[in-house]
Amino acid sequence: MSTSMLDVSHATQNTEDVKKIVQNRYGKCAEKGGGGSCCCAGEATSSSSFAAEHGLYSQEELSLVPKTAFSLSRGCGNPTGFANLRSGEVVVDLGCGAGIDVILAAQKVAPSGKVVGADFAPQMIERAKQAVKEAGVEDAVEFVVTDLERLELPDSLADVVISNCVINLCPDKDAVYREAFRILKPGGRLAISDVILTEEIGPQIQERFQSTWAGCVGGAIEEERYLEIIKKTGFGELEIVAHHPLSPGELEDMACCPGSEFTPAFEKEDIASAQGKVVSIKFRASKPRLG
Ligand SMILES: C[S@@+](CC[C@H](N)C(=O)[O-])C[C@H]1O[C@@H](n2cnc3c(N)ncnc32)[C@H](O)[C@@H]1O
Repeated sequence: MSTSMLDVSHATQNTEDVKKIVQNRYGKCAEKGGGGSCCCAGEATSSSSFAAEHGLYSQEELSLVPKTAFSLSRGCGNPTGFANLRSGEVVVDLGCGAGIDVILAAQKVAPSGKVVGADFAPQMIERAKQAVKEAGVEDAVEFVVTDLERLELPDSLADVVISNCVINLCPDKDAVYREAFRILKPGGRLAISDVILTEEIGPQIQERFQSTWAGCVGGAIEEERYLEIIKKTGFGELEIVAHHPLSPGELEDMACCPGSEFTPAFEKEDIASAQGKVVSIKFRASKPRLG
Protein backbone atom coordinates (compact mmCIF):
# COMPACT_ATOMS: atom_id res chain seq x y z
CA MET A 1 0.00 0.00 0.00
CA SER A 2 1.43 3.40 -0.89
CA THR A 3 2.16 5.95 1.81
CA SER A 4 -0.31 8.53 0.51
CA MET A 5 -3.19 6.12 0.53
CA LEU A 6 -5.67 7.31 3.10
CA ASP A 7 -6.24 5.19 6.11
CA VAL A 8 -9.57 3.68 5.23
CA SER A 9 -9.33 1.11 7.94
CA HIS A 10 -12.90 1.59 9.12
CA ALA A 11 -14.58 -1.80 9.17
CA THR A 12 -16.96 -0.97 6.35
CA GLN A 13 -14.47 0.79 4.09
CA ASN A 14 -11.67 -0.36 1.86
CA THR A 15 -10.27 1.28 -1.19
CA GLU A 16 -12.11 -0.95 -3.67
CA ASP A 17 -15.41 -0.25 -1.85
CA VAL A 18 -14.68 3.45 -2.02
CA LYS A 19 -14.03 3.29 -5.76
CA LYS A 20 -17.19 1.28 -6.40
CA ILE A 21 -19.27 3.78 -4.47
CA VAL A 22 -17.73 6.72 -6.31
CA GLN A 23 -18.28 4.97 -9.65
CA ASN A 24 -21.91 4.13 -8.84
CA ARG A 25 -22.66 7.57 -7.47
CA TYR A 26 -21.38 9.37 -10.58
CA GLY A 27 -22.87 6.74 -12.87
CA LYS A 28 -26.31 7.30 -11.33
CA CYS A 29 -25.82 11.04 -11.46
CA ALA A 30 -25.16 10.76 -15.20
CA GLU A 31 -28.22 8.55 -15.71
CA LYS A 32 -30.37 11.21 -14.10
CA GLY A 33 -28.79 13.90 -16.25
CA GLY A 34 -27.85 16.08 -13.32
CA GLY A 35 -30.82 15.76 -10.99
CA GLY A 36 -30.91 13.71 -7.82
CA SER A 37 -28.22 13.08 -5.28
CA CYS A 38 -24.97 13.69 -6.93
CA CYS A 39 -21.67 15.13 -5.80
CA CYS A 40 -19.49 17.24 -5.76
CA ALA A 41 -22.58 19.39 -5.93
CA GLY A 42 -25.26 18.21 -3.63
CA GLU A 43 -28.69 18.22 -5.18
CA ALA A 44 -28.28 19.61 -8.64
CA THR A 45 -31.10 20.25 -11.03
CA SER A 46 -30.91 19.79 -14.77
CA SER A 47 -30.41 23.51 -15.22
CA SER A 48 -27.92 24.20 -12.43
CA SER A 49 -24.52 22.94 -11.45
CA PHE A 50 -21.82 23.70 -8.93
CA ALA A 51 -19.77 25.21 -11.75
CA ALA A 52 -22.55 27.58 -12.72
CA GLU A 53 -23.49 28.56 -9.20
CA HIS A 54 -19.91 29.20 -8.17
CA GLY A 55 -18.77 30.97 -11.34
CA LEU A 56 -15.97 28.60 -12.32
CA TYR A 57 -16.36 29.34 -16.04
CA SER A 58 -16.81 32.60 -17.93
CA GLN A 59 -20.05 33.28 -19.77
CA GLU A 60 -18.13 32.98 -23.02
CA GLU A 61 -16.88 29.51 -22.08
CA LEU A 62 -20.32 28.41 -20.96
CA SER A 63 -21.82 29.57 -24.25
CA LEU A 64 -19.57 27.02 -26.01
CA VAL A 65 -20.76 24.08 -23.90
CA PRO A 66 -24.01 22.12 -24.45
CA LYS A 67 -26.48 21.90 -21.57
CA THR A 68 -25.77 18.22 -20.85
CA ALA A 69 -22.11 18.80 -20.10
CA PHE A 70 -22.86 21.98 -18.21
CA SER A 71 -25.61 20.66 -15.95
CA LEU A 72 -23.56 17.55 -15.13
CA SER A 73 -20.31 19.41 -14.53
CA ARG A 74 -18.94 18.70 -11.08
CA GLY A 75 -15.62 20.52 -11.08
CA CYS A 76 -13.99 22.80 -8.52
CA GLY A 77 -11.92 24.78 -11.03
CA ASN A 78 -11.42 25.35 -14.71
CA PRO A 79 -8.21 23.61 -15.86
CA THR A 80 -8.39 24.69 -19.50
CA GLY A 81 -8.36 28.28 -18.20
CA PHE A 82 -4.76 27.94 -16.97
CA ALA A 83 -3.33 25.03 -19.01
CA ASN A 84 -2.12 27.35 -21.80
CA LEU A 85 -3.35 24.89 -24.43
CA ARG A 86 -2.08 25.35 -27.98
CA SER A 87 -3.48 24.23 -31.29
CA GLY A 88 -2.27 20.74 -32.22
CA GLU A 89 -1.66 19.49 -28.66
CA VAL A 90 -2.87 16.15 -27.30
CA VAL A 91 -4.76 16.56 -24.02
CA VAL A 92 -5.98 13.88 -21.61
CA ASP A 93 -8.73 14.79 -19.10
CA LEU A 94 -8.58 12.51 -16.06
CA GLY A 95 -12.12 11.95 -14.72
CA CYS A 96 -13.76 13.85 -17.57
CA GLY A 97 -17.32 13.34 -16.29
CA ALA A 98 -19.86 14.66 -18.79
CA GLY A 99 -17.16 16.39 -20.79
CA ILE A 100 -17.23 20.11 -20.00
CA ASP A 101 -13.42 20.46 -19.97
CA VAL A 102 -12.99 17.99 -22.85
CA ILE A 103 -15.12 20.29 -25.01
CA LEU A 104 -13.33 23.46 -23.92
CA ALA A 105 -9.95 21.79 -24.53
CA ALA A 106 -11.01 20.46 -27.95
CA GLN A 107 -12.03 23.96 -29.00
CA LYS A 108 -8.46 25.09 -28.27
CA VAL A 109 -6.44 22.22 -29.77
CA ALA A 110 -8.59 21.15 -32.79
CA PRO A 111 -8.39 20.43 -35.64
CA SER A 112 -4.80 19.16 -35.55
CA GLY A 113 -4.81 18.26 -31.85
CA LYS A 114 -7.02 15.89 -29.91
CA VAL A 115 -8.51 15.34 -26.47
CA VAL A 116 -8.97 12.02 -24.68
CA GLY A 117 -11.56 11.91 -21.89
CA ALA A 118 -11.01 9.17 -19.29
CA ASP A 119 -13.56 8.16 -16.66
CA PHE A 120 -14.61 4.91 -15.00
CA ALA A 121 -18.36 5.67 -15.02
CA PRO A 122 -19.65 4.47 -18.41
CA GLN A 123 -22.85 6.48 -18.01
CA MET A 124 -20.78 9.68 -17.70
CA ILE A 125 -18.86 8.77 -20.84
CA GLU A 126 -22.16 8.26 -22.70
CA ARG A 127 -23.28 11.75 -21.64
CA ALA A 128 -19.90 13.17 -22.62
CA LYS A 129 -20.10 11.58 -26.10
CA GLN A 130 -23.53 13.16 -26.59
CA ALA A 131 -22.26 16.58 -25.43
CA VAL A 132 -19.15 16.43 -27.61
CA LYS A 133 -21.34 15.70 -30.63
CA GLU A 134 -23.66 18.58 -29.80
CA ALA A 135 -20.64 20.86 -29.49
CA GLY A 136 -19.41 19.70 -32.93
CA VAL A 137 -15.96 18.65 -31.71
CA GLU A 138 -16.37 14.86 -31.98
CA ASP A 139 -13.62 14.53 -34.61
CA ALA A 140 -11.08 15.83 -32.09
CA VAL A 141 -12.21 13.70 -29.13
CA GLU A 142 -11.87 10.10 -27.94
CA PHE A 143 -13.07 8.52 -24.72
CA VAL A 144 -11.87 5.65 -22.61
CA VAL A 145 -13.68 3.97 -19.72
CA THR A 146 -10.85 3.25 -17.29
CA ASP A 147 -9.73 3.48 -13.69
CA LEU A 148 -7.31 6.39 -13.36
CA GLU A 149 -5.13 4.31 -11.05
CA ARG A 150 -4.53 1.88 -13.98
CA LEU A 151 -4.98 4.00 -17.07
CA GLU A 152 -5.60 2.11 -20.28
CA LEU A 153 -3.65 4.60 -22.36
CA PRO A 154 -0.20 4.34 -23.96
CA ASP A 155 3.05 5.85 -22.67
CA SER A 156 4.03 9.36 -23.85
CA LEU A 157 0.66 10.08 -25.44
CA ALA A 158 -0.13 13.52 -24.09
CA ASP A 159 1.26 17.03 -24.21
CA VAL A 160 -1.04 18.04 -21.37
CA VAL A 161 -2.93 16.18 -18.64
CA ILE A 162 -5.82 18.08 -17.09
CA SER A 163 -8.18 17.07 -14.28
CA ASN A 164 -10.97 18.84 -12.43
CA CYS A 165 -12.00 17.79 -8.93
CA VAL A 166 -11.28 14.11 -9.38
CA ILE A 167 -8.02 13.00 -7.77
CA ASN A 168 -9.37 13.71 -4.28
CA LEU A 169 -11.83 10.89 -5.03
CA CYS A 170 -9.06 8.39 -5.76
CA PRO A 171 -7.80 6.42 -2.75
CA ASP A 172 -4.37 5.86 -4.33
CA LYS A 173 -3.24 9.31 -5.44
CA ASP A 174 0.36 8.12 -6.01
CA ALA A 175 -0.92 5.67 -8.62
CA VAL A 176 -2.92 8.36 -10.44
CA TYR A 177 0.07 10.71 -10.62
CA ARG A 178 2.38 7.86 -11.70
CA GLU A 179 -0.04 7.14 -14.52
CA ALA A 180 -0.27 10.82 -15.48
CA PHE A 181 3.55 10.95 -15.61
CA ARG A 182 3.70 7.80 -17.75
CA ILE A 183 1.21 9.03 -20.37
CA LEU A 184 2.82 12.49 -20.66
CA LYS A 185 5.51 13.12 -23.25
CA PRO A 186 8.82 14.41 -21.89
CA GLY A 187 8.28 18.14 -21.38
CA GLY A 188 4.51 17.56 -21.06
CA ARG A 189 2.44 19.49 -18.54
CA LEU A 190 -0.12 18.99 -15.79
CA ALA A 191 -2.94 21.51 -15.13
CA ILE A 192 -5.03 20.34 -12.19
CA SER A 193 -7.91 21.60 -10.07
CA ASP A 194 -8.58 19.57 -6.96
CA VAL A 195 -9.73 19.69 -3.35
CA ILE A 196 -7.11 19.55 -0.60
CA LEU A 197 -6.85 20.34 3.10
CA THR A 198 -4.64 23.19 4.29
CA GLU A 199 -4.54 21.72 7.78
CA GLU A 200 -5.68 18.56 9.45
CA ILE A 201 -9.35 18.46 10.25
CA GLY A 202 -8.95 15.79 12.92
CA PRO A 203 -9.41 12.04 12.56
CA GLN A 204 -13.02 11.92 13.75
CA ILE A 205 -14.23 14.64 11.44
CA GLN A 206 -12.14 13.20 8.61
CA GLU A 207 -13.78 9.84 9.20
CA ARG A 208 -17.23 11.38 9.04
CA PHE A 209 -16.32 13.22 5.84
CA GLN A 210 -15.11 9.89 4.50
CA SER A 211 -18.66 8.63 4.96
CA THR A 212 -19.45 11.03 2.12
CA TRP A 213 -16.37 10.20 0.08
CA ALA A 214 -18.03 10.86 -3.27
CA GLY A 215 -18.65 14.46 -2.17
CA CYS A 216 -15.00 15.40 -2.77
CA VAL A 217 -14.03 16.17 0.83
CA GLY A 218 -13.68 12.70 2.40
CA GLY A 219 -10.79 11.73 0.16
CA ALA A 220 -9.03 15.10 0.32
CA ILE A 221 -5.56 15.02 1.89
CA GLU A 222 -3.28 17.72 3.31
CA GLU A 223 -1.62 20.01 0.79
CA GLU A 224 1.91 19.14 1.91
CA ARG A 225 1.35 15.41 1.39
CA TYR A 226 -0.45 16.06 -1.89
CA LEU A 227 2.30 18.23 -3.37
CA GLU A 228 4.94 15.78 -2.11
CA ILE A 229 3.30 13.10 -4.26
CA ILE A 230 3.63 15.33 -7.33
CA LYS A 231 7.33 15.97 -6.67
CA LYS A 232 8.09 12.36 -5.71
CA THR A 233 6.52 11.16 -8.96
CA GLY A 234 9.11 13.21 -10.85
CA PHE A 235 7.19 16.34 -11.83
CA GLY A 236 9.06 19.65 -11.73
CA GLU A 237 8.22 23.35 -12.15
CA LEU A 238 5.34 23.03 -9.71
CA GLU A 239 3.42 26.28 -9.67
CA ILE A 240 0.33 27.00 -7.55
CA VAL A 241 -2.01 29.10 -9.66
CA ALA A 242 -4.76 29.65 -7.07
CA HIS A 243 -6.07 28.62 -3.67
CA HIS A 244 -9.74 29.06 -2.95
CA PRO A 245 -10.94 28.19 0.58
CA LEU A 246 -14.41 26.70 0.27
CA SER A 247 -17.16 28.87 1.75
CA PRO A 248 -19.62 27.24 4.19
CA GLY A 249 -22.14 26.93 1.34
CA GLU A 250 -19.63 25.33 -1.03
CA LEU A 251 -18.42 22.98 1.69
CA GLU A 252 -21.95 21.94 2.50
CA ASP A 253 -22.75 21.38 -1.18
CA MET A 254 -19.73 19.15 -1.50
CA ALA A 255 -20.11 17.31 1.76
CA CYS A 256 -23.82 16.69 1.77
CA CYS A 257 -23.53 13.61 -0.41
CA PRO A 258 -25.62 10.95 1.29
CA GLY A 259 -23.28 8.48 2.93
CA SER A 260 -25.54 5.63 3.86
CA GLU A 261 -22.96 3.16 2.58
CA PHE A 262 -20.48 4.09 5.29
CA THR A 263 -20.76 5.02 8.92
CA PRO A 264 -20.36 7.12 10.98
CA ALA A 265 -22.55 9.61 9.17
CA PHE A 266 -21.45 13.11 8.35
CA GLU A 267 -22.83 15.75 10.71
CA LYS A 268 -23.68 19.30 9.70
CA GLU A 269 -21.65 20.69 12.63
CA ASP A 270 -18.57 19.21 10.96
CA ILE A 271 -18.79 22.04 8.42
CA ALA A 272 -17.90 24.61 11.08
CA SER A 273 -14.88 22.58 12.22
CA ALA A 274 -13.61 22.16 8.68
CA GLN A 275 -14.29 25.75 7.63
CA GLY A 276 -11.24 27.46 6.10
CA LYS A 277 -9.29 24.20 5.98
CA VAL A 278 -10.82 22.75 2.80
CA VAL A 279 -9.46 24.43 -0.30
CA SER A 280 -9.88 24.15 -4.02
CA ILE A 281 -6.37 24.35 -5.47
CA LYS A 282 -5.22 24.96 -9.06
CA PHE A 283 -1.67 24.12 -10.03
CA ARG A 284 0.63 23.42 -12.98
CA ALA A 285 3.66 21.14 -13.11
CA SER A 286 5.70 19.52 -15.85
CA LYS A 287 7.45 16.28 -16.74
CA PRO A 288 11.16 16.98 -17.29
CA ARG A 289 12.47 16.89 -20.86
CA LEU A 290 14.86 14.11 -21.83
CA GLY A 291 18.59 14.82 -21.45
C1 LIG B 1 -16.46 15.39 -9.30
S1 LIG B 1 -16.65 14.60 -10.84
C2 LIG B 1 -15.80 15.74 -11.92
C3 LIG B 1 -16.10 15.49 -13.36
C4 LIG B 1 -15.50 16.50 -14.34
N1 LIG B 1 -14.07 16.56 -14.21
C5 LIG B 1 -16.11 17.86 -14.16
O1 LIG B 1 -15.38 18.81 -13.86
O2 LIG B 1 -17.33 17.99 -14.33
C6 LIG B 1 -15.52 13.25 -10.70
C7 LIG B 1 -15.46 12.31 -11.90
O3 LIG B 1 -14.31 11.48 -11.72
C8 LIG B 1 -14.63 10.15 -12.02
N2 LIG B 1 -13.72 9.29 -11.22
C9 LIG B 1 -13.54 9.30 -9.88
N3 LIG B 1 -12.62 8.38 -9.51
C10 LIG B 1 -12.20 7.79 -10.65
C11 LIG B 1 -11.27 6.74 -10.93
N4 LIG B 1 -10.58 6.11 -9.96
N5 LIG B 1 -11.10 6.36 -12.21
C12 LIG B 1 -11.80 6.97 -13.21
N6 LIG B 1 -12.71 7.96 -13.01
C13 LIG B 1 -12.90 8.37 -11.74
C14 LIG B 1 -16.11 10.02 -11.62
O4 LIG B 1 -16.73 8.95 -12.29
C15 LIG B 1 -16.65 11.39 -12.02
O5 LIG B 1 -17.15 11.41 -13.34
